[in-house]
Amino acid sequence: MKGIFPIHRFRELETPFYYYDTKVLRDTLAVINKEVAKYEKFSVHYAVKANANPKVLTIICESGLGADCVSGGEIRAAIKAGIPADKVVFAGVGKADWEINLGLDYGIFCFNVESVPELEVINELATAKGKIANVAFRINPNVGAHTHKNITTGLAENKFGISMADMDQVIDTALAMRNVKFIGLHFHIGSQILDMGDFVALCNRVNELQEKLYARQIIVEHINVGGGLGIDYAHPNRQPVPDFAAYFATYAQHLKLRPEQSAHFELGRAVTGQCGSLISKVLYVKQGANKQFAILDAGMTDLIRPALYQAYHKMENITSEEPVEAYDVVGPICESSDVFGKAIDLNKVHRGDLIALRSAGAYGEIMASGYNCREIPKAYTLDELV
Ligand code: LLP
Repeated sequence: MKGIFPIHRFRELETPFYYYDTKVLRDTLAVINKEVAKYEKFSVHYAVKANANPKVLTIICESGLGADCVSGGEIRAAIKAGIPADKVVFAGVGKADWEINLGLDYGIFCFNVESVPELEVINELATAKGKIANVAFRINPNVGAHTHKNITTGLAENKFGISMADMDQVIDTALAMRNVKFIGLHFHIGSQILDMGDFVALCNRVNELQEKLYARQIIVEHINVGGGLGIDYAHPNRQPVPDFAAYFATYAQHLKLRPEQSAHFELGRAVTGQCGSLISKVLYVKQGANKQFAILDAGMTDLIRPALYQAYHKMENITSEEPVEAYDVVGPICESSDVFGKAIDLNKVHRGDLIALRSAGAYGEIMASGYNCREIPKAYTLDELV
């Protein structure tokens, strides 16, 4: 074991592979549970979209979290991992009929509905099965977030949610339907948010909407504020567990809940981000005109975040202690954007060295593709390797 990695075991494995530090994951889940327990009416649904690896999902299930799913496949993955259907919520702007039917058959807790046509289809399919579907409306709060433009979701220009102006009409439509039960409101403003002020802005907007509903004597049971808490990509060792205390305290302080109401959170990245690394081998060190390249066997197919969002993932040469040099760290894919980072300081790199790309536990493996006919890398956990 060098540092946090069981390197002697890594040497036996075919690269690249995802590595999940199950101790970090369990520690993270323990802190979530401890902080949530401070507030009687708070509960967390893990956003399966961040990482649906069965080994990871099983540990999350053991911790008692529910699941936030955005497809039939995610619902199946959550249920297979043991998460009870009555702890599953189902969101997404484009739910197919078979996915709605799957949710109805399992009897999931709630459909987060994003449009009137979708509401009509849910009512129709529930009627055909003689069931009543719980629904919450995803409201587009038109609240910005200080994060990358591709991962902001709560602005009026985004495709997500029902506009606040349409809310009353949508609620009236639902109240007149026989096979849906309107139980909540749902929001989500974006991802990788580190400024608690963004969540305060969301709370203020939710409070405003609640006042409007209250004037109509409507009190919904559930307020789902989505996810979005970010992680420290620059310092995965210094802050392996995000500041859940501050996150939940912000909502406790600013979200006005009535006694009969509960708050739901859909955390993804903050749960699994820091437990994962992509472990890759150096194929070649190539001298360029004015720089040197470390060419890895992992590429954007295995971790697309740097190419897609210009995201930073800390990189470490875990098999060298030699003095640091600067490298452009790149993958083998035939795309110029297949670059993990430029002018990255690494302990002197040789062919065969192992490079860890850190904080890859969320939106890493799950976003992998087979482009260039590449295999999706395998995944291993600390539990399996020590
Ligand atoms: N709830 C809803 C409705 C969402 O759309 C999302 C994420 C979450 C919860 C979970 O958000 P989190 O707690 O993980 O921030 N692929 C991008 C992130 C896309 C997030 C999409 N929605 C990335 O790699 O940064």
